[in-house]
Amino acid sequence: MNYPVLFVNFKTYRRGTGERAEELAKLCEEVSEDTGERVVPVVQVADLFRVSRTVGIPVYAQRVDSVNYGSNTGSVLPEALVQNGASGVIINHSEDRRSDDVIRKCLERTKKQGLETMVCAKDPKEAERISSIGPDMVAIEPPELIGGDVSVSEARPELITEAIEKVSQPLVCGAGIKNKEDVEKALDLGADGIFVASGIVESDDPEEKIRKMISPF
Ligand code: G3P
Repeated sequence: MNYPVLFVNFKTYRRGTGERAEELAKLCEEVSEDTGERVVPVVQVADLFRVSRTVGIPVYAQRVDSVNYGSNTGSVLPEALVQNGASGVIINHSEDRRSDDVIRKCLERTKKQGLETMVCAKDPKEAERISSIGPDMVAIEPPELIGGDVSVSEARPELITEAIEKVSQPLVCGAGIKNKEDVEKALDLGADGIFVASGIVESDDPEEKIRKMISPF
């Protein structure tokens, strides 16, 4: 992975689901190809196959479980993510929290499959603990700022700098990031990547938003 990188979390937004997930991923690809910067769609597991078939850029899945082949109805098998085109996966997002034990097991399973892993943390203390489990990247996102209009880089810059000191992996930050200035500030603070959802997926002009946000890269 080259840094900086922009992760676009499609969550379960209408504009990031099904056919519209393909369209949004194509915009990510277009901007990525035009600029040479990394833009990574993070899609619902249900949309992984259709999106990865549509674009040539790496695609991440929003979820994984630590199960093996067998009787695990409803679980997300790491092997299935690979076979359906995932390059990586996020684990422990604020909206999909996992215990440390489950994170550890998921990392063991996903690493064997060659998937890149980004594990999320809500604060620098959790980021430090997660870092010791050994993902490829740690993402810090204060839950209270997620989906809001004030960015982590504006409202809680100290979280980014503290987390950078505590983790040994590249640090991605997210929550409330809406514009170029938020990204600029996060990069100035030392972040290696940016994690955005509503600011892009819910925008009426997502392409323009992506272009603006990666302009400081
Ligand atoms: O995964 C990124 C996300 O949680 C941040 O959401 O809407 O604040 O950009 P948002």
